[in-house]
Amino acid sequence: MKALTWHGKRDVRIDTVPDPTIEQPTDAIVRVTSTGLCGSDLHLYEVLGPFIGEGDVLGHEPMGIVEAVGPDVDNLAVGDRVVIPFNISCGHCFMCDHGLQSQCETTQVREQGMGAALFGYTKLYGEVPGGQAELLRVPQAQYGPIRVPEGPPDDRFLFLSDVLPTAWQAVEYAQIPKGGSVAVIGLGPIGEMATRIAQHQGAGQVIGLDLVPERIARSAGHGVHTIDVSATDDVPGAVRDLTAGRGPDSVIDAVGMEAHGAPGGKLARTLAGLMPDAVARKVMENAGIDRLSALNVAVELVRRGGTVSLSGVYGGTADPLNMLQIFDKQLTLKMGQANVRRWVDDILPLLSDGDDPLGVDSFATHHVPLTEAPAAYDMFQKKDDGAFKVVFKP
Ligand SMILES: NC(=O)c1ccc[n+]([C@@H]2O[C@H](COP(=O)([O-])OP(=O)(O)OC[C@H]3O[C@@H](n4cnc5c(N)ncnc54)[C@H](O)[C@@H]3O)[C@@H](O)[C@H]2O)c1
Ligand SMILES: [Zn+2]
Ligand SMILES: [Zn+2]
Repeated sequence: MKALTWHGKRDVRIDTVPDPTIEQPTDAIVRVTSTGLCGSDLHLYEVLGPFIGEGDVLGHEPMGIVEAVGPDVDNLAVGDRVVIPFNISCGHCFMCDHGLQSQCETTQVREQGMGAALFGYTKLYGEVPGGQAELLRVPQAQYGPIRVPEGPPDDRFLFLSDVLPTAWQAVEYAQIPKGGSVAVIGLGPIGEMATRIAQHQGAGQVIGLDLVPERIARSAGHGVHTIDVSATDDVPGAVRDLTAGRGPDSVIDAVGMEAHGAPGGKLARTLAGLMPDAVARKVMENAGIDRLSALNVAVELVRRGGTVSLSGVYGGTADPLNMLQIFDKQLTLKMGQANVRRWVDDILPLLSDGDDPLGVDSFATHHVPLTEAPAAYDMFQKKDDGAFKVVFKP
């Protein structure tokens, strides 16, 4: 089959690789019909090279048609239309029972000290072949795949794999009081979807911050009060002016470690790029590679006693946190990979509604044949051509 494989920093290719097969009784094979490109893939494209093997298949936002099932998969049949959550979870362990599917104890990558395995996401997360491919082997298929009805186009359901549950969890974790205010930093797919969900759930005021003009315009187009951080001298001041001088009740960081504007982090990552992998891994784990600027802005913005919800991915272990401010402002921080399965039942009814309240049908800006994925990665990283959400068609 054809698949998108990683070969080095900013070097991904379409290769021919062996078709996946059923390896465990709980596996299924899915023929992929649509598969998303994610901000998280950009971390692999740019900085996480030391954790990826050459030839690894990327991608974690697939949907398609079940082509084969193992003997222990009794809830799926060949021909079913399914969306595959980006995290692989079993549905029957302590963590899954507690709605913490991204910590699944059956698939935890213990040798790396990490949570549940993810599709297409580095050795840290189990080096499971990903979904930017014609075919996908789905472990734990007795639980993970979400069956969706025939009829609507793929885009109606595709974002259940990641964007929708991630943004949903970001809003849940933000604990926005009834009618309260929330600021969302980063208006990429995750941040923008979080603004839509917060609006849908009745937040009184939704403020969005970014620096890419098309993204700012897109959120402003559905009623978000936007702030261009590149054109505003005093961002916290501008946000306080909108929130009775106090700051919003909640702040969602939907940027993560690709934040613009923190030269120290960039230097560390560039240096890591020049070192042998084993050394670079250590530097990245211990010295910290994160550019914490988005998180620091979140801490600064939020009102005293408020909540900061992080969905942006952070990776280093040694970055200094502004503990003085976090403690003094009496903040709550909530974060983590989305527990995809946890939120599906809440979200599905909104996708069956003909009104499309979350705007999923028109969410993607680009549909591209999988064979053109390498150029699309480049476009997406540079945010050229208004690239916001890219969907590959294998
Ligand atoms: N927690 C999870 O389960 C989960 C799942 C999916 C994605 N993510 C993470 O969420 C983050 C966002 O994902 P995405 O797909 O929307 O990515 P994206 O890269 O498309 O969006 C990030 C946005 O942040 C903006 N930005 C960068 N620096 C900024 C700054 N200093 N101030 C304001 N805005 C800034 C960028 O212009 C961009 O629009 C990524 O870190 C991704 O890895 C987490
Ligand atoms: Zn994703
Ligand atoms: Zn589990």
